[in-house]
Amino acid sequence: MTDLAAIQEATDGASPRAILGHALERFGDDLVIAFSGAEDVLLIEYAHQLGRRFRVLAVDTGRLHPETYRFFAAVEARYGVRIEVAFPAAAEVEGLVRRRGLFSFIDDGHQECCRIRKVEPLARHLAGFRAWVTGQRRDQSAGTRSELAAVELDPVFKTSSGAPLVKFNPLAAMTGVEVWDAIRAFEVPYNPLHARGMVSIGCEPCTRAILPGQHEREGRWWWENEQKKECGLHAGNVAGGEDGS
Ligand code: ADX
Ligand code: SF4
Repeated sequence: MTDLAAIQEATDGASPRAILGHALERFGDDLVIAFSGAEDVLLIEYAHQLGRRFRVLAVDTGRLHPETYRFFAAVEARYGVRIEVAFPAAAEVEGLVRRRGLFSFIDDGHQECCRIRKVEPLARHLAGFRAWVTGQRRDQSAGTRSELAAVELDPVFKTSSGAPLVKFNPLAAMTGVEVWDAIRAFEVPYNPLHARGMVSIGCEPCTRAILPGQHEREGRWWWENEQKKECGLHAGNVAGGEDGS
């Protein structure tokens, strides 16, 4: 049994780096940092500063930007870490593309493609861990992330024995401005797509640059309703979304 209350008490009011430090100390190799290739690179910088061994997991949906793949390699070189890459099941992707084409998400909504390309591989890999760390922040989405806790029991992903994973969101209370201040201050490498107006970065066909004054989430799945812009990785943020769909 995971004592969530004890973890919450130990991390209450702690800085993002201290929350990550607590997570690494408590779970060691049973914890993984989920890295999307965007400004969540700050988590890797913090883990490096803490001087502990850490593991990093990225889901390669097959639809990432070339810049993101190169950025993964740059992060590996800078921090001396091998990113563990999770791939979707080939038969599932082939089935989807044969049935609905390469851009099914435009007409059908992004849920099915995200489920096959992102959520399932993540679930399969997370089953080998007891806890994970995400770069989610409250200011990323007024609609779905404003209540985000720094530590929670994951409503979607389970360990191989069926227990919920502990989910750490150490950056929850940071603003995007604070994250970028830290990235500049520590001279952290960043995805060059940010310099081209992309703030929130996911898959290439579902990410676009935003204009001044637009919210970062307007650069993701812009053809869809604001309240539904969770892909299943963080389905617990959406009321009724606990099934990961
Ligand atoms: S998403 O659900 O809309 O795609 P978002 O891009 O905001 O998520 O990223 C939030 C956090 O989810 C990231 O900081 C990271 O921890 C995790 N995440 C998102 N995409 C991936 C990915 N492809 N691989 C690993 N983790 C990811
Ligand atoms: Fe598919 Fe777009 Fe989701 Fe990527 S973000 S898995 S391309 S729907």
